[in-house]
Amino acid sequence: MGTITAGLEGVIAGESEICYIDGYQGILSYRGYNIHTLAEKAVFEEVIFLLWNGWLPKQPELDRLKKDLVAVRELPAAVIDFLSGQVKGNPMDVLRTAVSMLSLYDPEAQDMSAEANHRKAVRLMAQTANIVTGFNRLRTGNPLMPGDPSLGFSANFLYTLTGKRPDEVMERAFDVAMVLHADHELNASTFAARVTAATLSDIYSSITSGIGALKGPLHGGANQEVIRWLLDLGDEDEAVERVKNTLARKVKIPGFGHRVYRTEDPRATHLRVLSEELGRRTGHEKLFRLSRRMEETVKEIKGLDANVDFYSASTYYSLGIPIDLFTPIFAVSRMAGWTAHVLEQYRNNRLIRPRAEYKGNPDGQTWIPVGKR
Ligand SMILES: CC(C)(COP(=O)(O)OP(=O)(O)OC[C@H]1O[C@@H](n2cnc3c(N)ncnc32)[C@H](O)[C@@H]1OP(=O)(O)O)[C@@H](O)C(=O)NCCC(=O)NCCS
Repeated sequence: MGTITAGLEGVIAGESEICYIDGYQGILSYRGYNIHTLAEKAVFEEVIFLLWNGWLPKQPELDRLKKDLVAVRELPAAVIDFLSGQVKGNPMDVLRTAVSMLSLYDPEAQDMSAEANHRKAVRLMAQTANIVTGFNRLRTGNPLMPGDPSLGFSANFLYTLTGKRPDEVMERAFDVAMVLHADHELNASTFAARVTAATLSDIYSSITSGIGALKGPLHGGANQEVIRWLLDLGDEDEAVERVKNTLARKVKIPGFGHRVYRTEDPRATHLRVLSEELGRRTGHEKLFRLSRRMEETVKEIKGLDANVDFYSASTYYSLGIPIDLFTPIFAVSRMAGWTAHVLEQYRNNRLIRPRAEYKGNPDGQTWIPVGKR
């Protein structure tokens, strides 16, 4: 038997051509395109295409994807009914269940051909966004917003969420956040999705596994914990004190640390800028200042850097997004990466089935009948 590595740290669990990370140098790229280049130049639909296909779309390919995403975004009536009945539901639970439900209304759900799986990936991208915005509309007593086909993915998301067309700055900020969260190699939720896909189960089951894994506070759930921390702080001195006390108690602070990065997460570099710019624009500069003090203090005491969830929290808050939608929004973006990985897994599959080192009772225990135990 091989050696055990707690949490599979450093274990290479498979080959992939989708995403590259150098955790020591802080390099992240999707299909060879550096995340800094993508954050600066790409729109989210280009990144979706890139992750799925491996090359940047030519204009007709991009137009086609945009058209397809618009064409398939309507939700089955039964899913809308389900959302209407869940006004008090936890948004990640609602999302996980609704995405799982989609398979029941997809005539191609059990078709495992590459073509059908690609079409399902397009539907999952479009409909997941609609589930998140539709759920929020319904739980706040608002009617569903039909999308605007002239808007891109991110602008349409904000439009169907709020009922208002975002201005250019808001749209671009949200789009950059989408680009930054789209993929991250074998993170816990992508691994979960690939484990399910590797049994040759369908793409909806695989994605449902991924959403379940993303929910946890050690993964995508951290962004919600970050904003709760920030909103609870009175001033910068309190930020320093609370960080010190928390670290002294050996309790983890959300938004810091990473399994792979040993330097700054390159996504945090961009989100820090967005957080500052949007904070200034929307009157939430204080959140940015508190974030900076927290960041400096954690770095000073523990040597840890902020991760993707730290500045995405104040960025989303400044965009006016409800706190409990932060993690579902992570899912909307990561859907691009999850589906790319599931499609890649199907193309070159082998069942993923590791071993455990057994630490329980030795074999050969004596059986005692129930009445005599
Ligand atoms: C991301 C995370 C789960 C990675 O966990 P991991 O690779 O198993 O790292 P470990 O828990 O082994 O931590 C290594 C060391 O850093 C410390 N550490 C890691 N993250 C920390 C945090 N957020 N706050 C305080 N200390 C932290 C640990 O206490 C440990 O310190 P020690 O060696 O003195 O005991 C972890 O950093 C974490 O829980 N972060 C907060 C949640 C979060 O932001 N998640 C989103 C990740 S993108």
